[in-house]
Amino acid sequence: MAPRTMVAGNWKMNLGPAEAADFARDLTLPPSIRSEVALFPPALSLAALREELGEGPEVALGVQNVHWETSGAYTGELSVAMAAEAGATFVLVGHSERRHIFGEDDDDASRKVEAVLRGGLTPVLCVGETLEERKRGELSGVILRQLEAVLASGEVEDRITTEARLVVAYEPVWAIGTGETATPADASEAHRILRERLVSRLGDTVGQGVPILYGGSVKPDNAGDLLSAPDVNGVLVGGASLDPTSFARIVAQGG
Ligand code: 13P
Repeated sequence: MAPRTMVAGNWKMNLGPAEAADFARDLTLPPSIRSEVALFPPALSLAALREELGEGPEVALGVQNVHWETSGAYTGELSVAMAAEAGATFVLVGHSERRHIFGEDDDDASRKVEAVLRGGLTPVLCVGETLEERKRGELSGVILRQLEAVLASGEVEDRITTEARLVVAYEPVWAIGTGETATPADASEAHRILRERLVSRLGDTVGQGVPILYGGSVKPDNAGDLLSAPDVNGVLVGGASLDPTSFARIVAQGG
C-alpha cells in the first residue's frame, strides 16, 4: 500500500528557541490535512517549538542528528533517548551536509539508524549523489550503496520488517540549497530505484510502505509537481520551511 504523504521541514542551523516559538504562532496549517507533517528544528529549539505548537498530533518533531551511544563522554552529541524526551519522534540520519561537511560515512549512518530504531524513534535516512557522481552515471550505485549500508545490519532489517519504521529521503547533493531542483522525472527515477531495492530487501508489504521523500530546493511553486510525481511520497524542505507561510503552502499541496 502506498505510504501516507509526508511533508517535512529541515531547519538546519536556523531559528533559535524564540524564533521557533514565533514560527509556531504564525503557522496556520490548512484544515483537515491528510499528510504527515514534521519539523526538524535545531535540537535547542525543539522544546520551545513543541510547547508553542501544543501537544496535538498535527505536527511531529524530529532532530537533525544523534549519536549512536546511549550516554557518555561524547562532547557536543545528543542521545536518542534525550531527543525522545524532548519530544522528537523522527531523526534525520546521513543528511548530505553531515556526510560532506562533517565527514560522516555509511558506517556512521548504519550505527545511527540502529540506535534510532532501538530507541523507538523513526529514522529518516538521507541518500543522494553529488553532481560528479551523477555525471559519471553513478546515481543508482551511490544511492543503493547508502541504503544497503543501513539495511546490511541484521538488527535494522529485523526491526524495520517487524516494526515498519523507516523513512528514506532522496536528496541529490547538487539540488540542495542551490535553487536547482531535480525535475519530477529525475526524482521519480531515483525513487523507483530505491523502491525496488526496499521491496526486494524487505518484502512487498513493508518495502512498499516506506515513504520516500524528495529534498532539494523544494519551494511552494514546485512542490505540487514534485508531490504528484510517480513514486514520490513526500518532500523534505530546507530553506522554504523557515517561513511559516511558505511551509504551510507546501503542506497544502501534500493533500
Ligand atoms: P533546500 O530545500 O534548502 O535545498 O534544502 C534541502 C535539504 O537539505 C533538506 O534536508
